[in-house]
Amino acid sequence: MTDPETKNADRKEILALYDISQIINSIPDFEELLSKVMDLVISTTRAERGFLMLRDFPQEEMSVKVARNLEQQDIDNSGEISQTTLNQVMETGEPLLTSDAKTDPRFTGSESVMLYNIRSVLCTPLKKQNQIIGLIYIDCLTTSNVFTEDDRAFLAAFANMAAISIENARLQARLQQENLILKKEIRHQYQFDNIIGRSAKFMAALSLVERVLDSSVPVLIQGESGTGKELIARAIHYNGPRREAMFLAQYCGALPETLLESELFGYKKGSFTGATANKIGLFEEADKGTFFLDEIGDISPTIQAKLLRVLQDGEMRRIGENKSIKVDIRIISATNKNLKQEVAEGRFREDLYYRLNVVTIDLPPLRDRRDDIPLLVRHFLDHSPQAAAKKIRELTREAQEAMSAYHWPGNIRELENVISYAIVMAKGNIIGIDDLPGPVLSHKTEAPPLIPGKSMHQMELDYILSTLKACQGDRKRTASQLGISLRTLQYKLKELKQEGHALEK
Ligand SMILES: Nc1ncnc2c1ncn2[C@@H]1O[C@H](COP(=O)(O)OP(=O)(O)O)[C@@H](O)[C@H]1O
Ligand SMILES: [Mg+2]
Repeated sequence: MTDPETKNADRKEILALYDISQIINSIPDFEELLSKVMDLVISTTRAERGFLMLRDFPQEEMSVKVARNLEQQDIDNSGEISQTTLNQVMETGEPLLTSDAKTDPRFTGSESVMLYNIRSVLCTPLKKQNQIIGLIYIDCLTTSNVFTEDDRAFLAAFANMAAISIENARLQARLQQENLILKKEIRHQYQFDNIIGRSAKFMAALSLVERVLDSSVPVLIQGESGTGKELIARAIHYNGPRREAMFLAQYCGALPETLLESELFGYKKGSFTGATANKIGLFEEADKGTFFLDEIGDISPTIQAKLLRVLQDGEMRRIGENKSIKVDIRIISATNKNLKQEVAEGRFREDLYYRLNVVTIDLPPLRDRRDDIPLLVRHFLDHSPQAAAKKIRELTREAQEAMSAYHWPGNIRELENVISYAIVMAKGNIIGIDDLPGPVLSHKTEAPPLIPGKSMHQMELDYILSTLKACQGDRKRTASQLGISLRTLQYKLKELKQEGHALEK
């Protein structure tokens, strides 16, 4: 048996919940959202005032975030509410409803009820799992018996919704904040003052970089491994007009063709066995941003053809899809092969080659820019937290000279690793010659002229073995003859042994 009035009230509250869910989904501003929602709660329950309290941090006291009246105005008498109610709800974690606080025994002795003449009160906790993150409090000063059990159920349902959206809004605010900080950090990392080098060859490359920043022309970066190709690609992105969009990189060397193709272009569900869902390709994801294709020299003819379309028409097609999509991406590619030669030998499409290298930036190997070695050493020392912790600020002259003389086959990446290694090895607060790894030491003197057919490594081994023989196996003398420390020699000998050379005693 339901009387029509209750039924009407039910309906009204369900509609209010529906309105509230709409508001929650449509108002991006958090404060505005809270006020609007509170107004709806007040009008639905016929309350005179409504308050929403939240804790900003788990351990903090609650503070009033919104206080509204029947006329949909902000009010500032937020101190004038029933403290007894708030305390009880906080303690029990349950909603509290009273039809007349003045006569309700639970409020005997409550100062605020007497003082502010509070009659009807309804209060509900806002919970995240079992933790109380806030309270919703509504009351009526003039009339008793305003709130019903239905109102209590309505407010509880509303509180659940509100708690979720408040937590989401906070999470989003925190993520936005974090994202901003990270973006700033990345931008800082790729600023030009973090790209080290003064030598003429390197400066020439950098000046080209600066000239291509503001356009979207494709850039091809050539250089040995570790010369800074990716660093330059990122610098172009983060210092240019596309910086707010994404920078994505894909390594193209030694990857199965189908894997690379589906990474770059994505696929339609069902287009091959294993394509159980649609997949968005990286090119689509990088729309409006920059795409870095690393080791471009290795891509297959199929992918070369597809890539040509992206560059020529700004269009691509997912695997198994028959319509094309427009993409707006800047392509930066890198290679340590001689692409021109790849073209000459028929392994790389000539038309693609010309599309990719509208501008070519050649990064010199480190051995061709030896003047930059001390600057780079300084840079990596200054930016190493481990060096800071051990108060390491410099190298001995001997160590510095060994660094400058070494031929650096792994270029700047190798130099960065050598510095990290030396920081770990150093006992005091200066890096000495003994703290440098073997390969650097064995090239303390200028590398000998190249003998055709022999690798640097082979020559080094021959040299060590012949010296050892000349010193009749005396390691101490061998080391001093070679101009390296005993430890380095021992390290080298161990290496030889591992490679299967028989060592005479
Ligand atoms: N000019 C430079 N100044 C400072 N660090 C550099 C410079 N060039 C390269 N690096 C650092 O050396 C490492 C290797 O560079 P990377 O761009 O990955 O080389 P590549 O892509 O050519 O193999 C990275 O840690 C990079 O930050
Ligand atoms: Mg690289």
